[in-house]
Amino acid sequence: MNNQTFTETYYISRDKGNSVKWQRGRKEKCLPMWIADMDFKDDERVIEALKSFIEKGDYGYANLPEDYYKVFIGWHQRRNNVTYKQEWIRFTKGAVDAMYQIIYSFTEEKDGILICTPLYPPFKATIEECGRKVYESKMINNDGYFTFDYKDIERKLRSGKVKMMMLCSPHNPVGRVFKKGELEELFDLCQKYHVLICSDEVHSDIIMPDQEFIPALALKKYRNNIISIVAASKSFSLAVFSHSHVIIPNQRLRKKFIECQRKHHSGSVNAFNALPTYYNYLYGEEWLDCVNNVIFENYHYFADQLGSDMEMTSLEGSYLLFLNLGKYAKKKNAAEVLKKECGLLVNDGGTFAKGYESWVRINLATSMKNIRKAVRNIRKLVK
Ligand SMILES: Cc1ncc(COP(=O)(O)O)c(C=O)c1O
Repeated sequence: MNNQTFTETYYISRDKGNSVKWQRGRKEKCLPMWIADMDFKDDERVIEALKSFIEKGDYGYANLPEDYYKVFIGWHQRRNNVTYKQEWIRFTKGAVDAMYQIIYSFTEEKDGILICTPLYPPFKATIEECGRKVYESKMINNDGYFTFDYKDIERKLRSGKVKMMMLCSPHNPVGRVFKKGELEELFDLCQKYHVLICSDEVHSDIIMPDQEFIPALALKKYRNNIISIVAASKSFSLAVFSHSHVIIPNQRLRKKFIECQRKHHSGSVNAFNALPTYYNYLYGEEWLDCVNNVIFENYHYFADQLGSDMEMTSLEGSYLLFLNLGKYAKKKNAAEVLKKECGLLVNDGGTFAKGYESWVRINLATSMKNIRKAVRNIRKLVK
C-alpha cells in the first residue's frame, strides 16, 4: 500500500473524542503535534478480532491466548533478530509502570541512577519519585546528531554511587537508533562499574529504512546485566491499553523482580489489555511497515522544507523530531512561541533537559496534510 492510500484508509479524525492530544488542541485552537501517539487507526483485522472478543460478552477471568508468548517471541526474532525466552517475560501496566517497578526492585533509597539527556521526562521524574538520585549525563550534540559522552559517563560511574543506568533506545527525543559499537562501549562501562542496565525499547518498531535497531539483549555478552522494557504500545498506538513487558534473562534478578511484584500485588497480566498487542503482532506487520514509510516520508518533507533554516535531529527511529528554534524564538520558550504565533502544540524542549528551552519535540505520526500545515505555519516564524 502506498503512503497516500495508507493515509486515506487509516487516518482518523480524533478532534471530537477524548484523545488527550486532540482535546488540548481543540481547547487551545492549535494543531496538536505533541505527546507520543499516532493519528492512524489500527489494522482492520485487529479491530475485527477485538470486536469478536467484545461481542462474545464473556468478561470473566481470562488467561492470555495460548500462543501469546510464541507470537511475541516470533515477532522479536523476525523483526530484530533477538530471541527472548518465555520465562524471562514479566508484565506491567505500561512502560512507565515498568520503570517504577524496576527501580524499586533493584535499587535502594538514595542510590544513584544515570540517564543521558535530553530525555523523555518521566525517566527523571520516576527516579526522583522513588527517592533515588538522578545522575544526568548530557549527550554530545553535533549539529542535531546526539551521541553519548563516554568520558562524562565514566566519571559519574566511577564515583561508585550509581547503581543503575536507564537507557532509552531508540532515544526519545533525539531520535537516535544506537549503533552496536555505541551500545557496547556503554555496556562495557556499566559492567566495569557494576551498574545494572535498564533499556526502554518501546520505540523499537519505528525504525527508518536505512537503520538497524539492536535490542540490548541481542548483545549476549551483557545479558546478565540487562533488563529490557518492550511493548507494542508505540508501534501500533495502543497507549490506552497500558500493557508492557519487562524482560529479565538473569534468574537471580528475575526472582528479585517477581518478589517485588508480589509485594505490590502487581505482577498479574490483564488479559484483555494484552489482546491488541497479540493481534497486532499477528496481523499488523504490513500496517507497521506502511506506518514506517509514512513517517519516513513526513520526516523527509519536514527536513527538506525546514532543515536548512534550523538545527534538527536526523531521525533514525521513533516518530519524534527534536528541533532548535533558537534563531526565531529569541530567547523565549520555543514551544510557547509555536503555540502563539504558529498555532501548533508541541512538547517544550526544556522539559527534556535544562537548557533546551529553545528546542521543541514534534510528533510526525500524522497525515502529510497536517505535516504540510505545520511546515507552513513554522515558515511564518522563519520569515
Ligand atoms: C521512551 C518512552 N518510554 C515510556 C513511554 C510511556 O509508555 P507508557 O504509556 O506505556 O507508560 C513513552 C511515551 O511516550 C516513551 O516515549
